Amino acid sequence: MKHNQLMHILDSLTLDQKIGQLVQLSGEFFKEGTQTTETGPSTKLGLENYNIYNTGSAINVTNAQDLRAIQNEYLEKTEHKIPLIFMADIIYGFETIFPIPLAQACTFDFELIQQGAKIVAEEAYYAGQHVTFSPMVDLVRDPRWGRVMESPGEDVYVGTNFARAMVNGFQGKDGKLGPKSLAACVKHFAAYGAPVAGREYGAVDMSEQQLREVYLPSYRAAVDANVKLVMTAFNTLNGIPATGNKWLNRTLLRNEFGFDGVFITDYAAIKELVQHGYAEDDCDAARIAMEAGVDIDMKTSVYSNHLKSLVEAGQLDITLIDEAVLRVLELKNDLGLFENPYRGLDDPNSQIDEGKKIEKGVEFGEKSAVLLKNDNQTLPLSAAAKIAVIGPFAENPAIVGMWAFSADYHRIVTLRKGMEDVFNPENLIFAEGSNIMMDYNRVGFSDNIGNLSALFQVKDQEQLLDDAEAKAKEADIIVLALGESMFESGEGGSKTNIHLASCQVELLKRMKSLGKPVIGVIYTGRPLCLDNIIDDFDALLYAWYPGTYGNSGIANMLAGKANPSGHLAMTFPKNEGQIPIYYNTYRSGRPIRSEDVAYRFTSRYIDQTNQPLFPFGFGLSYSEFRYDNIKTDHSEFKESELITVSIDVTNTGLMDGETVVQCYVHDHIAQISRPVIELKQTKRIFIKAGETKTVSCGLSIDDFKYHNDKGTKVYDKGQFTIYMAQHAEDRANHIEVRLV
Ligand code: GLC
Repeated sequence: MKHNQLMHILDSLTLDQKIGQLVQLSGEFFKEGTQTTETGPSTKLGLENYNIYNTGSAINVTNAQDLRAIQNEYLEKTEHKIPLIFMADIIYGFETIFPIPLAQACTFDFELIQQGAKIVAEEAYYAGQHVTFSPMVDLVRDPRWGRVMESPGEDVYVGTNFARAMVNGFQGKDGKLGPKSLAACVKHFAAYGAPVAGREYGAVDMSEQQLREVYLPSYRAAVDANVKLVMTAFNTLNGIPATGNKWLNRTLLRNEFGFDGVFITDYAAIKELVQHGYAEDDCDAARIAMEAGVDIDMKTSVYSNHLKSLVEAGQLDITLIDEAVLRVLELKNDLGLFENPYRGLDDPNSQIDEGKKIEKGVEFGEKSAVLLKNDNQTLPLSAAAKIAVIGPFAENPAIVGMWAFSADYHRIVTLRKGMEDVFNPENLIFAEGSNIMMDYNRVGFSDNIGNLSALFQVKDQEQLLDDAEAKAKEADIIVLALGESMFESGEGGSKTNIHLASCQVELLKRMKSLGKPVIGVIYTGRPLCLDNIIDDFDALLYAWYPGTYGNSGIANMLAGKANPSGHLAMTFPKNEGQIPIYYNTYRSGRPIRSEDVAYRFTSRYIDQTNQPLFPFGFGLSYSEFRYDNIKTDHSEFKESELITVSIDVTNTGLMDGETVVQCYVHDHIAQISRPVIELKQTKRIFIKAGETKTVSCGLSIDDFKYHNDKGTKVYDKGQFTIYMAQHAEDRANHIEVRLV
């Protein structure tokens, strides 16, 4: 439909009909009994004399039959005949689930991430979905915060590339929302990942320099990739709730970023302006949110109950409402809903290539898991070995992370299934070994748990341990499948203690006492503190939540059919006391002096080192990679010139393998004190055993710019050190360059 036709539609709408387009409700408001997933407080909305058939959009109707029936009935009963738009949390999978975003970031393979998002969009498109509330790109430096699982981790370069890849994957590279695409919604604007003390929904407070330098770039990258929607954040930013923050949403997002798409709140966030003490009541909240540029009110009655009276009382300019409604109509038009309200549902070629999903899911599992330890080449396992696979994740299908409500659990490959496919089943023996945790009372399951509740019943721990010990005694080697329940992370999943549950530590110690090699495979949504158990493992593979087919990839690595290549997109602290800890830390006037740990007056702790257990970028392989011969084509360069830094990488191992070459920059002198190093580029590279390849990274002036204390993007002439490294603490290969 042409723009002027949309204007005509807008002009034909009554004020009630316009306001209705700015309201989003869940499925049961349209059709009794619709299967829905509450993702927030399901308080009764208190809709007053409201016509449901004015509503513009529906949230989390994930059953295609329900969706079709709702659209059908809606179009029959609504006067204006503008179709409903359906939006859902299809974060990293619809029915087929890929690894959680933090795991995907550990691939450092942004092409793969884009391919994954494309497959997710295709599957959801055929189910009639129009918009996904993804990608979440909130940068996170605090693993106590549960939603770290949903984020691309602690780094700006990774976050911006992840954002771009996901938006292009969901929407199609040209962003034209062609067939099999979804409109993407980047979230949560802004800086939701930096709550005080890592506590969910906590206040966020930082300088504009920090906001612009570290936390905004990933949202900006999504906007520059033509993302169709942005979602507000629950948190306050420097005292002002993001959802009512005019500077953040109009000055920054609309004017500076140039975002012209639909701006939707997070779940009930407008109403929460009252709770924040920023709005007097719902009516005040409605005015504040509309003036701050919020288009759609998700799941409250604030807009529906108050916008009309505000306009009629002359307290709200109707053009703000018209602009918001026009953006909603344009989104529906971009999706072709006026021509076909059943987009995707009736697409003739809706058979999906299952094989492609499996292949991608396995590849994702192989590339996102991170090998953290492998003493004496314990891994890969020999085909002849008698293996005891022990632990609460040995046969557990709940390995898709919290944000996978519509997962098809029947297709999920457990570690047991994955291993039986690659090892001789007669050489495998399984036992649950331990509970995940001994008390679920504070986990606060929402109704997402559905048919999984049986998995979260506490069993007789002693019996589990004894059974495991009896079985492990028969084996040559023990694989321990441990971790966190997937509801210990995700929204509402903040924790003060991110060590492994003590019941599982008990299992580990019991297995260790048998004197056989112990390999850990850990399933979790966050970096855990492993300082108390790392020495008990001979090898440790960090599986995150690998999704539907990821365990096939894990099993391939255990069997040596695949070579681990994941690298950490987030620092692993030794203990909670070090948090926040991240690789691009800021300098101190008294840097620690390694030669004299007892010297008191330096930037250090008395009871712990400054170093993490595993640094950002770290990841082992079954091969070894030697870096040498670092070079640059310019030791001096002007702002208009590109410089190229190269390094020779040799695979000195016996297996072909992939690794991630990381290019870091250290800025010696600047207008503000700069981080010790910053990641500027990565290159994933495959190298045959014994071969050497030269890897080059091209850097432009943009890689040397930063926001100064005024929030202005600047650069300085002077000296820089460039590192080509295997992780953030690898400083062996460096070269000096000078910007003149
Ligand atoms: C939730 C989440 C948000 C999600 C939304 C809709 O509270 O914060 O990420 O997209 O509500 O379910």
